[in-house]
Amino acid sequence: MSEFLPNPARGKEVFDLDRAHVFHSWSAQAQISPLPVATGKGSYFWDFDGKKYLDFSCQLVFTNIGFQHPVVVDAIKKQADLLTTVAPQVANEARGEAAKRIVELASPHHQKVFFTNGGADGVENAIRMARLHTNRHKILSFYRSYHGNTTSAISATGDPRRWPNELAYGHVHFFGPYSYRSAFWSKNEEEECKRALEHLESVITFEGPNTIAAILIESVVGTAGVLIPPQGYLEGVRALCDKYGILWIADEVMSGFGRTGKWFAYKQLLAAELLGVRKIKALMQRSLRWNYYELSTR
Ligand SMILES: Cc1ncc(COP(=O)(O)O)c(C=O)c1O
Repeated sequence: MSEFLPNPARGKEVFDLDRAHVFHSWSAQAQISPLPVATGKGSYFWDFDGKKYLDFSCQLVFTNIGFQHPVVVDAIKKQADLLTTVAPQVANEARGEAAKRIVELASPHHQKVFFTNGGADGVENAIRMARLHTNRHKILSFYRSYHGNTTSAISATGDPRRWPNELAYGHVHFFGPYSYRSAFWSKNEEEECKRALEHLESVITFEGPNTIAAILIESVVGTAGVLIPPQGYLEGVRALCDKYGILWIADEVMSGFGRTGKWFAYKQLLAAELLGVRKIKALMQRSLRWNYYELSTR
């Protein structure tokens, strides 16, 4: 950061380069005008004109520790000097140590971490594992949700990006609690919670409990609007999962690793006595790597 000097001409070149050759995700390419970002530090980033921005959105909800955190940058440099990459089948000190620390933060019942390349990859693998483990095929998820851009993850996604991409099978959507635009005509949060759980149980019943491998939900819905579930909702989902032998996949790609004030969002939102339950598979990614490198775990 200290060596950064404003350079508007370079900013123009970076913009032109981007427009000529970079294809941006989920965008009508002709309609966008990406801001050229030159550098960042802490909660701020700068464009090439030297204009400073306070990054309220943490880029895409991932720079939880800010830009260029010196401890992380130093660790990346040290690891790059030692060993830049390694195959999945070998043991590695950094990977083992990271897995141990994540498990310690999760709960005494969690034991292992499966590292993947990104959030969608984590969702994809969680779905596959749930299906293998239960020998059931359906995955239930919210209409108001985003789970990633790979085939199962985008089919599990509720928002309209799913529509041209419904190429995976066995995905069923339901309404989560959302008092502001209640699907249940509720008058308050308590009623919303109760009716949303009744709705979920009806969906489970009509879909056939024995066909449902997992309920995949964001602990706090992110892209669809930062929707915090009412008190009791996640407990209710937990109870339905137990009642019907369904796995719960907590997608915390956006909400995990400190964003709700606890390491895991479900820990913030779920009654303490339920935290030890083994059947929670937690997915976290963006926040875990602070997006300084590619990584996801489940
Ligand atoms: C809740 C949630 N799950 C999954 C993903 C996909 O993560 P990635 O873009 O790293 O594949 C996202 C991305 O925004 C997300 O918000």
